[in-house]
Amino acid sequence: MSDLMQSSERAARFQVQADGMLFDYAKTSMTETAREALLQLAADRGVAERRDGMFAGAPINETEGRSVLHAALRAGPDAVIEVDGQDVMPGVRDVLARMRAFADDVRSGRHKGAGGPITDVVNIGIGGSHLGPEMGTLALRPYHDGPRCHFVSNVDGADIADCLDGLDPKTTLFIVASKTFTTIETMTNAETAKAWVQLGGGDLNAQFAAVSTALDKTEAFGIAPERVFGFADWVGGRYSMWGPIGLSLMLAIGPEEFDAFLAGGEAMDTHFRTAPLERNMPVMLALTGLWHSHVCGYPTRAVLPYDQRFSRLPAYLQQLEMESNGKGVTMQGDPVEGGSGPIVWGEPGTNGQHAFYQLIHQGTQVVPCEFMVAARGFEPGMDNHHRLLIANCLAQSEALMRGRDIETAREMMRKAGFEGTELERQAAHRVFPGNRPSTTLVYDRLTPYRLGQIIALYEHRVFVEGVILGINSFDQWGVELGKELAKQMEPLVSGEAAPDEKDGSTRNLLAFLKAIRG
Ligand code: F6P
Repeated sequence: MSDLMQSSERAARFQVQADGMLFDYAKTSMTETAREALLQLAADRGVAERRDGMFAGAPINETEGRSVLHAALRAGPDAVIEVDGQDVMPGVRDVLARMRAFADDVRSGRHKGAGGPITDVVNIGIGGSHLGPEMGTLALRPYHDGPRCHFVSNVDGADIADCLDGLDPKTTLFIVASKTFTTIETMTNAETAKAWVQLGGGDLNAQFAAVSTALDKTEAFGIAPERVFGFADWVGGRYSMWGPIGLSLMLAIGPEEFDAFLAGGEAMDTHFRTAPLERNMPVMLALTGLWHSHVCGYPTRAVLPYDQRFSRLPAYLQQLEMESNGKGVTMQGDPVEGGSGPIVWGEPGTNGQHAFYQLIHQGTQVVPCEFMVAARGFEPGMDNHHRLLIANCLAQSEALMRGRDIETAREMMRKAGFEGTELERQAAHRVFPGNRPSTTLVYDRLTPYRLGQIIALYEHRVFVEGVILGINSFDQWGVELGKELAKQMEPLVSGEAAPDEKDGSTRNLLAFLKAIRG
């Protein structure tokens, strides 16, 4: 990598800019020839055609026979998008208008709970019905001017108990967010919330809203139809924060800022649809990812936002990328060539530097690092913090690339007064192999518009990687088996049924738990 960087043109040639953002992939081992081959692969695998099919409403989620149209949720006022000959946009606009009206009513205090204006909103959902709104709400903290928003997802009672502690059952609004309205975690938490509101003298009718594709089930749960916000099955759960699943975010920042978020997403859609592949940010982000995972063979990638408010971005991207491309078979059911998409993990910088960067710099595994940093923060009078944040981000990618050779380490130890075998021993610990790849995404600051752009960028990256691997990025059959077995397991935990059919390990674990639980 250091050799490649000797070229004065490398930085300019290995970057993509789009609408105020810069994606640098110069600090990788990708050569011009490799990039040509990757671009050819993208063309051969039909990335552009498949992309156009997705935006046109073709049923590209073939295993479920569905279109993939989350982009319709952020499409502008003139868009016409047809599914089975029907324009879906009037329906999208209608729900968005109802969300806006409801958000205005709640935020202005016109919509009240039993105890008066709504002070707190609790989104109850999991996976795609949780991670997007939670990540976005944390990311846009400087824009909060509505009720406080909280998020409950885990079936562990600790989650909802800790959330409700200190909230008022007469002024808290619950949004039950579930595409299917059958997810056990969400339904269990929703029932607990219902009981809490009832017991606390709240108004069940006014204090519950729902977001779902299953309108019969929201009705059966008892949520008033005027507070139910529906969406279609062509919006995948992990791609759904642009529509009603984003209601909690809209309540926190207001409909206008939510519109800016949608506009950012739409701007990235336009870029993705129109920029030539080599200057297309999602395409180059995807090709760099595949270069690392499938050509270099690095099994993981780290997402490292130097932006504290992106603290939940790694978790959000884990679902987006791993639930989408963590598949062992192609669309045709054949084994995926070269393996599925990579493991995604991460943590905001600079915190990660004091935790796991040791391995990234000197461990024997190579971890491609995806850095992100904003040029400016929001905190007045704290630019000293922000300068340090940027300096650390840039220093890490430089250190990973350059490393430190044994001669330099020896010289350091000599200066520190070591000699002989002790000098050699000490120097060996101070060697950094270098040649470790990273990319960096730079943006001005984390506004609603930028958030929209960045999330759409990652969505399209996943899409491109999926197309090239031949994977259906829009189903998730791999989550089913565990759910089925959990259903069967519950009576064994409660003791209503005997675990005779289970394996020895599971029987042993159940017995140990039973001995403690009684
Ligand atoms: O179990 C995985 C999953 O189906 C995700 O794909 C989805 O985002 C999540 O569960 C929640 O599903 P729902 O919105 O239907 O409750």
